[in-house]
Amino acid sequence: MTTVPRFAPDAPGTHPPLDFAGYRSTALRHPSRPLLVLPQRLTELTGPLFGHDRVQPGDDDLTWYDGGEAVGQRIVVHGRLLDSDGRAVPDALLEVWQANAGGRYRHVVDQWPSPLDPHFAGNGRVVTDSDGRYRFTTIRPGAYPWGNHPNAWRPAHIHFSVFGQAFTQRLITQMYFPDDPLFFQDPIFNSVPDPAARQRLVSAYDHGATVESWALGFRFDIVLRGRDQTPFETEPDDD
Ligand SMILES: [Fe+2]
Repeated sequence: MTTVPRFAPDAPGTHPPLDFAGYRSTALRHPSRPLLVLPQRLTELTGPLFGHDRVQPGDDDLTWYDGGEAVGQRIVVHGRLLDSDGRAVPDALLEVWQANAGGRYRHVVDQWPSPLDPHFAGNGRVVTDSDGRYRFTTIRPGAYPWGNHPNAWRPAHIHFSVFGQAFTQRLITQMYFPDDPLFFQDPIFNSVPDPAARQRLVSAYDHGATVESWALGFRFDIVLRGRDQTPFETEPDDD
């Protein structure tokens, strides 16, 4: 019988609580019963995995859509996917989604009065290489209002999903930009209790990745476990 590996618990304060008063909708969303560990047996580990083989050339470039170029500050976002020992995690599917330069999502429920960009869809994906590296090109997203509290604005961010080798291995987080003036009032960013862990959600400006006369570079490494772990919204294995 396959045994479920047991991991060292994460450092206290690394992940946000599932119910966080400042983030109002978590009151109705959060699970009210203890989480269960899903065993990863043969079925889970060898079943088909959506997405990895569907990545197409250009999926890592969000700046072109429907025959035209998106409006906004062009950026390169890159980094490495690492485990707690600093080892590369290759062949992981990274998916990203984000608002456009004006802070609006191409989604039916996003109706605030900021224009849609006909040439920006706002989603992309890439598979990490043998060294755990990923890189995509996009537009720097704008801040957007969200009604959580008076004059609530989300700091600019990019949503990340990381798929592992099975359906049960999916983690979701958000990447922020350095020195965003909106951090102080954002309950999602501030729901991560440990200030040091919170900073691991903030990308770093990377002049080495900045491309002459083309795009600004930002680096965002994602660490799956251990002292330097990236805080995730979906933490499946606390037991
Ligand atoms: Fe968002």
